[in-house]
Amino acid sequence: MHTIYLDHTATTPLDPRVLEAMQPYFGDRFGNASSAHRYGRQAKDALEEARARIAVAIGAKPAEVMFTSGGTESDNIAILGVLNAARRRRRNHLLTEAAEHHAVLDTCLHLRDEGVDVAVLGVDQHGSVAAEAVEERLRSETALVTIMHANNEVGTIQPIAEICRIARARGVPVHTDAVQSIGKIPLHVDDLGVHLLTITAHKINGPKGIGALYIRRETEWEPVFHGGGQERGRRPGTENVSLAVGFAAAVGLATEEREIMMPRVERLRDSLQRQLQDAFPGMVVNGHPDRRLPHLLSVSFDSRVMPMEGEMLIANLDLEGIAASSGSACTSGSVQPSHVLLAMGREERTAKATVRFSFGRGNSEDDVAVVKEAMQRIVARMHRAAQ
Ligand SMILES: Cc1ncc(COP(=O)(O)O)c(C=O)c1O
Repeated sequence: MHTIYLDHTATTPLDPRVLEAMQPYFGDRFGNASSAHRYGRQAKDALEEARARIAVAIGAKPAEVMFTSGGTESDNIAILGVLNAARRRRRNHLLTEAAEHHAVLDTCLHLRDEGVDVAVLGVDQHGSVAAEAVEERLRSETALVTIMHANNEVGTIQPIAEICRIARARGVPVHTDAVQSIGKIPLHVDDLGVHLLTITAHKINGPKGIGALYIRRETEWEPVFHGGGQERGRRPGTENVSLAVGFAAAVGLATEEREIMMPRVERLRDSLQRQLQDAFPGMVVNGHPDRRLPHLLSVSFDSRVMPMEGEMLIANLDLEGIAASSGSACTSGSVQPSHVLLAMGREERTAKATVRFSFGRGNSEDDVAVVKEAMQRIVARMHRAAQ
């Protein structure tokens, strides 16, 4: 069966060039980067070269890039590390927004249970946070602002540079989750002005299980894990050199190819959007009309047009060989509407009738036509079944 993968926001296939770069580190080059002999030195050199490549790609210094196990860990330790350091100075206030990934939201909620004062800003109908709202809510005790760079469900890009200007003027550091923006849109830590930034490898054709946290040099942050001197004492544990090498290769390719790849996937995304709008009048496109990731299309349907929930639609698309995502979360056996869409003011029913398509390197214009026809066929079948 010919399959079409349109879920690159969830994860991406490993690029063969990345696999090739990693391969020696699963074989002969197995050394521990902390060892004093030649095996160790070889591993250490590869690790530091990988760190330097990633640092260059985001405009950071190598010492400011710390490897982690992925986006979730980076988000957790960014927030916990700043709050733990700040609480000693009686800074006990944290600012975030309602459409964040759960890696950020749930960490903030955990801190709220621990007695931190957490303010969760709302978003508008496009999923955007207003920089002025951040300004209004900043306090002398604010320890951190954590707001994502680009949303994983609807693609909305937040005004991080503006938020950083406001927060910096008040002496407050900003963390941003840039998991979905690296390789898709320009990402430079000084242009943004952030103190902390999260990235991960598996969204850019790199391996799963490795990410990084950028921590600007002057940031007051303390380690969350203990037990070794690795990563300058900030994140102990034997370093995963093979994955770090793969991450650096993926970042290098994504950065080099961004200016060719992104206009290409944006054309495909726009073409699918147009064709679905023609086929399903009344379909709503989620996310900001202009400030949106180029490869992502999230659409919601009126229940008269779409006689099924997103989960059912995804299952039917899967039967046709098409992989997409509903954006809803299955919790305790029942389908919950996406917290992002609810925060944007969508009704629960509409939020549940949502599908997200996200394009990547392997997609073509032929895929767009196949998806549109499959959608029409599935919806017509469901209407017949409902009669
Ligand atoms: C915005 C965002 N943050 C964090 C994560 C978690 O990253 P990881 O899968 O590397 O833990 C994801 C993954 O879906 C994401 O989309």
